[in-house]
Amino acid sequence: MNTIGDQLDTTELEERVKVMYKEVALQPGHEFHFETGRLLAERLGYPSEDLDRIAAGAIESFAGVGYFQDLAAISAGEAVLDLGSGSGTDSLVAALRAGPDGRVVGVDMTDEQLAKARRLADEAGFAQVEFRAGYIETPPVEEAEFDCVISNGVINLSPDKPAVFAAAARALRPGGRLALADIVSEGQLPEGVTCDASLWAACIGGAMQRDGYRAAIEAAGFEIETWRENDAYRFISERADNATQKYGVTSISLLARRGGAD
Ligand SMILES: C[S@@+](CC[C@H](N)C(=O)[O-])C[C@H]1O[C@@H](n2cnc3c(N)ncnc32)[C@H](O)[C@@H]1O
Repeated sequence: MNTIGDQLDTTELEERVKVMYKEVALQPGHEFHFETGRLLAERLGYPSEDLDRIAAGAIESFAGVGYFQDLAAISAGEAVLDLGSGSGTDSLVAALRAGPDGRVVGVDMTDEQLAKARRLADEAGFAQVEFRAGYIETPPVEEAEFDCVISNGVINLSPDKPAVFAAAARALRPGGRLALADIVSEGQLPEGVTCDASLWAACIGGAMQRDGYRAAIEAAGFEIETWRENDAYRFISERADNATQKYGVTSISLLARRGGAD
């Protein structure tokens, strides 16, 4: 059994996360601790024109926590890796920018999310998008294969965040960008929250203290260029909302650049 601080069983946590996001893929209308869908995406800042150009089925299962595509500034022909691609909203928006000569690879560990994303990308004729089964700590990609790594609402779910940032750095060419939205906390969360697998799977329990989060990104060889708070994101269940208010759990978007020649 693997544990975090001898308290939270990471095998159980992975199962909880998979069960939750299987439901997000298959029954997006259900009520979760967090919001999902198009209204959320619009409130976070996704332009309607972009959302109109990608599969509605992907957006109904959108469970991101912030907007960062403006920071990612993906250009035509670029290669993009989406860590924890879910049902595919950000991968498809990235594909609009990268165009037919670009490439987007989404990686996710939940079969139902992958199946949905693959089906929708196929139906919409996004030939430059591919979804691979894998973990964000060890994504099945080559070294220095990508110009930009993106991720939305996922890294907080990982019990090994330094491994995720190291994997992102490895996947990027020197000078490549990391653009993401995620959940962080103002102070260190108490064990009652970090050891609650259901709050963890709801994107709260795994929130890392913000200075530690920044330090982990920098330790992987990135320089953080932009860091912004996403006031438009909020959790909806009372329990989740209490935890967020009490411990200053918030959504942020950031842009960081991998060191090395551009
Ligand atoms: C909150 S959802 C966000 C999905 C998508 N980025 C979006 O914005 O809709 C989290 C996703 O990350 C995936 N995930 C969580 N931890 C993961 C890990 N360690 N490796 C791979 N995928 C993971 C889940 O399966 C789920 O699809």
